[in-house]
Amino acid sequence: MSYVKMLRMIMAPTVVFGANGLTQASGQVSIPPDPIYVQECGSCHVPYPARRLSAASWRAVLNGLDRHFGSDASLDPATLKPIAAYLEAQARRRATLGEDGQPLLRITETRWFRHEHEEIPERTWKLPTVQSPAHCEACHTAAERGNYSEHALHLPRE
Ligand code: HEC
Ligand code: HEC
Repeated sequence: MSYVKMLRMIMAPTVVFGANGLTQASGQVSIPPDPIYVQECGSCHVPYPARRLSAASWRAVLNGLDRHFGSDASLDPATLKPIAAYLEAQARRRATLGEDGQPLLRITETRWFRHEHEEIPERTWKLPTVQSPAHCEACHTAAERGNYSEHALHLPRE
């Protein structure tokens, strides 16, 4: 177990609610998402888990908020500052680069994401309830709270 992971477990012994409504201690304990981040970056989609992109990727995302995947998600500097600090502190330590060597803007294009999700059949991605891999909560029923544990996983069917 890494030092950081250990610190997190000591500092944030959270309890999560599984899809079945039962309370269970999670093996995947993480720091609760920052409230400003959740408010500003969790309105159009779930507040994506900070530790799934590198700091360089998060900086690239935040630098382009005025043209954010076809949306304008601009924020004023005072709001942006704590969000940038939060994301940078919690970011993935390993680089998340594209084939062009530039930081990826999408979690769903990272190698770990593709690897972790490679067994999902093509038709599942195309279901009306899924449509986009960025729609994490279509399968991870507790994604809103940053919980991606297997207990809260529900693969949609036709
Ligand atoms: C006005 C709506 C809106 C707001 C506010 C917003 N986003 Fe997004 N975001 C989108 C859309 C639309 C997409 C593309 C979703 C898709 O591909 O299905 C997206 C995608 C993303 C992705 C890539 C998801 C993937 O494919 O892995 C990241 C990362 C992201 N947003 C981060 C943020 C952050 C950080 C903030 C806050 C600073 C934010 N978003 C605020 C609309 C928004
Ligand atoms: C179509 C359904 C689907 C969507 C959409 C989806 N996932 Fe997953 N996810 C899965 C499945 C299935 C697994 C594999 C679970 C396993 O094999 O243990 C998985 C695994 C994971 C894991 C590893 C969990 C663990 O305990 O090791 C993480 C983290 C994760 N997904 C995050 C995300 C994020 C973040 C998004 C959105 C950007 C997302 N997923 C979108 C279905 C989905």
